[in-house]
Amino acid sequence: MVGVKTNRKTITDKNFAVLASGFGSNLQATIDAVKRGDIKGKLALVVSDRRDAYALTRACKAKIPSVFIDPTIFADRESYGRELIRQLQTADIQYIVLAGFMRILSEHFVKTFHNRIINVHPALLPSFRGSHAIADALAFGVKVTGVTIHLVDDKIDHGPIVSQEAVLIEPRDTLKTLEKKIHAVEHRIYPLAINLLVTGKLQVRGRRVIVKT
Ligand code: GRF
Repeated sequence: MVGVKTNRKTITDKNFAVLASGFGSNLQATIDAVKRGDIKGKLALVVSDRRDAYALTRACKAKIPSVFIDPTIFADRESYGRELIRQLQTADIQYIVLAGFMRILSEHFVKTFHNRIINVHPALLPSFRGSHAIADALAFGVKVTGVTIHLVDDKIDHGPIVSQEAVLIEPRDTLKTLEKKIHAVEHRIYPLAINLLVTGKLQVRGRRVIVKT
């Protein structure tokens, strides 16, 4: 890890954190990609807003520092966001990877990590925003849905798009089979995008994200 020595401590420019609320399969894909060397950054912290998130167990098994930050003890989104920022900055985190983090980030949080927060959404944005995107796509009867990786801005499921991949919905698909297909795509393309982010390869021009070569 290349670091910059300051008077106080070494600041690495590739430390990133994963924020997750649930099962953490995207966290696992990230952990595995770091291990393989496909993500050239250090996964230095896992944060959850749920004490019982399986993501925390995955972090523990992989010996990655993790923290549960209890949202119920904060008055509002802003104060929760400030605590998140405090913990992330204490760990010298430069980039934030959202992996099923079911909480809206505060305005201040998004500003603090401007263009350094990435999210995975299980549909082809701008279609099917929100937390039931797979079921909504199936119910709507679309023939094609997919996965979107995007940077996070101040609106939900809206920031500049890094990558997308389509997934066909076949007549015999159920919620279960479609989820399985979507997750397989997520686990393959999210690590690629995370690597571009943490190695500083993403350049944002308006709504367009260009990969620096
Ligand atoms: C994924 O489908 C992701 O697209 C969405 O939340 C889900 C998280 O799943 N944002 P997991 O916790 O990574 O298994």
